Amino acid sequence: MVQFTKAVTFAVLAAGALGHPGGNVRDEFEKREQHLNNPKRRTLADCHSALERRGHQDLMVERRKARVNDIRARKGLEPRPYLRARDLATIGLTPVEQPESEIFGRQSNCILDPEQTEGPYWVTGELVRSDLLDGEPGVTIDLDINVIDVNSCSPVEGVYAELWGANSTGVYTGVVASGNGDGSASEINNNRLRGIQPTDAEGTATFKSVVPGHYVGRTNHLHTIIHNDATMLPNNTIQGGKITHVGQFYFEQSLLQQVEDISPYSTNDQEWMQNSADMLYQQSSSNGDSAIVEIVLVGDTLADGVYGYIDVGINPSASYSPQPVNMWTDDGGIPVPGSMWQGYPWEESGGMPPGGFPGWPGAKRAEAKREQKLEA
Ligand SMILES: *[C@@H]1O[C@H](CO)[C@@H](O)[C@H](O)[C@H]1NC(C)=O
Ligand SMILES: *[C@@H]1O[C@H](CO)[C@@H](O)[C@H](O)[C@H]1NC(C)=O
Repeated sequence: MVQFTKAVTFAVLAAGALGHPGGNVRDEFEKREQHLNNPKRRTLADCHSALERRGHQDLMVERRKARVNDIRARKGLEPRPYLRARDLATIGLTPVEQPESEIFGRQSNCILDPEQTEGPYWVTGELVRSDLLDGEPGVTIDLDINVIDVNSCSPVEGVYAELWGANSTGVYTGVVASGNGDGSASEINNNRLRGIQPTDAEGTATFKSVVPGHYVGRTNHLHTIIHNDATMLPNNTIQGGKITHVGQFYFEQSLLQQVEDISPYSTNDQEWMQNSADMLYQQSSSNGDSAIVEIVLVGDTLADGVYGYIDVGINPSASYSPQPVNMWTDDGGIPVPGSMWQGYPWEESGGMPPGGFPGWPGAKRAEAKREQKLEA
């Protein structure tokens, strides 16, 4: 499954270089459709009523409201009505007041299976810390990720959520790659906008970052990985355990529109792909799934920052093996030897990794077809 989503990303990322994704990708989409339609597949939606019944939902509404009040107090902002991001369009007019359950109690259905790709820019070994800004400019987001076990429908305490995303001008820190910033070698020693947080008794991991900017071929998104059974080391990193979720978070197009109008987002001259054109966004938003972060405004404008929350369903018995391109050490970043993402975007070999995508079912079929042609 993981291999398949890698193949889709590859197709999306390489589409510019290689033309349209080939028939294999369509095959894989059809496969996924079948999977999504499997009656045994569990999603977070199956947990909504259980979470409500147990009072978890009401508790989350109170906690999220308290979080926004707390952020406001820290920023010296007066109390004001709570507004969701989609109400941005009405700012200056009279915003429609909504019940708090509607603003703070929306339950998302994060995609579970197949999971989304880690992409070529995951750096492993990152620090356990909540504030990922370190001076990085942009629209700040205080983000709560709520981890739920889809089998028991209970919040999961003590797992580690990892978060990373592009900066406001669409560059990933910590990675030197063509098409990712100016390619300066020192970039490998930058770990802004990357970090890890444990979940508390209510399953919540809390971060401060920026609303991600965009880069060629993708809509704005954040990456996440959930680590189960990891151990915290004295140097504030985690070790061991296994990965039960690899995913991406998205934002409503109307919010992105307003964010991209603000400096420094507005100085990003990379082509901007909108949600509706992004294959991976589409994949995460079909069959009742949605990986869109719910956004509540902190002040009157985006310059005051936003508060966001999203639920992530995990299956604790799942185990994924995403591949990091680099690793964070106390000496800064170093490449991970043998990572399939080394050398991405593989310009020398025409946009394909030199060894191909090991395990990608499409690759096998393509190879078989090539052989058939040679025999004919
Ligand atoms: C985004 O990151 C790149 C690489 O670190 C940096 O050159 C660029 O200035 C950053 N964007 C902003 C707006 O700071
Ligand atoms: C933290 O400690 C581990 C185990 O000794 C080591 O492998 C890792 O590189 C260290 N990371 C940092 C950022 O110091």
